[in-house]
Amino acid sequence: MSVEMARSRRTTSALCAPSLWLVVCAFMLHIPSALTVILRTTDKIVWANEFEPVELTCLIESISTKNPRIEWKKIRNGIPSYVYFQKKIAGDLENRAQLREPANIVILNATREDTAEYRCEVAAIDDQRDFDEILISLAVRVIPVMPRCSVPEAVTVGTSPELRCLENEGFPAPSYRWFHNNEELPQDPKNTPKFINATYTINPVTGSLKFRRVRKEDAGEYYCQAMNDAGHAQCPSQWMEVYDVDVLNIVLKSVGGVIAVIVVLGCIWHCASRVLSNKKGHNENEFGWQGQNDGVEYGDADEGHFRHKSSFVI
Ligand SMILES: *[C@@H]1O[C@H](CO)[C@@H](O)[C@H](O)[C@H]1NC(C)=O
Ligand SMILES: *[C@@H]1O[C@H](CO)[C@@H](O)[C@H](O)[C@H]1NC(C)=O
Repeated sequence: MSVEMARSRRTTSALCAPSLWLVVCAFMLHIPSALTVILRTTDKIVWANEFEPVELTCLIESISTKNPRIEWKKIRNGIPSYVYFQKKIAGDLENRAQLREPANIVILNATREDTAEYRCEVAAIDDQRDFDEILISLAVRVIPVMPRCSVPEAVTVGTSPELRCLENEGFPAPSYRWFHNNEELPQDPKNTPKFINATYTINPVTGSLKFRRVRKEDAGEYYCQAMNDAGHAQCPSQWMEVYDVDVLNIVLKSVGGVIAVIVVLGCIWHCASRVLSNKKGHNENEFGWQGQNDGVEYGDADEGHFRHKSSFVI
């Protein structure tokens, strides 16, 4: 306990002599905040829109020091930097912010780079507990820009085309909605009688619109919208045509294909058999000649062997 604190308690005790005040004084003696700096904020997590003002509050609940030292630091990606230092706005916020009594900071025109943690630090030299700090998270919402959409120009009935939509600027990350002929497609078609026969699925997180089996009715104009709390943006609509299956064409193509395969296989078989028969004849000659030679040689050897064996046996 410091000298001042002890002295203050002694004077309080002296004043407390009359028994009437005893209860009140006992209570006062136990107030620990008399010589302590204590900070408070109205919001530890602050959301702001880009290009709009935002205030980070650093309220001083208790302080004895007349001119406390106030500092603000910005911590982004773990790296701290000063934004209020020696009674001046500094760094990133220079010319864009003000200090408002007692220690609030007002950003006049927030940008996406202001998304960070901010720490208000107050040093009160004359207080017993002479330092306090408070950490505030600021997140600046960014309106999505026009998403990039990919819609196939033409698909065939029964195939599974996928339409894609992507936006990278918006913060927080946007969710996606798809429109067909200017009508929003419900995320789950099975829940809407009008779309009961549709076979698509929408992923609002990835922006994908995928058909399981595309139908004639699915042809038309498509566009996608990317939206978050700050706003939304959409791509221009694009036409997707859905063609019937051309059965005759497919049959002709497959018959043509089968004929082509037969012709090719027939040719291969014909050519291969010619090559094989040539090779076979040649090989037969070789083996025949060798066989003859071998026969002679083995004949001799066998004869010798036989004779030898025979003589041995005899
Ligand atoms: C905020 O800043 C943006 C970009 O720097 C600028 O276009 C806009 O006019 C500013 N808004 C205000 C209210 O100062
Ligand atoms: C869905 O398909 C069934 C059977 O083909 C048909 O009777 C019904 O009218 C269709 N509903 C819609 C909304 O297209």
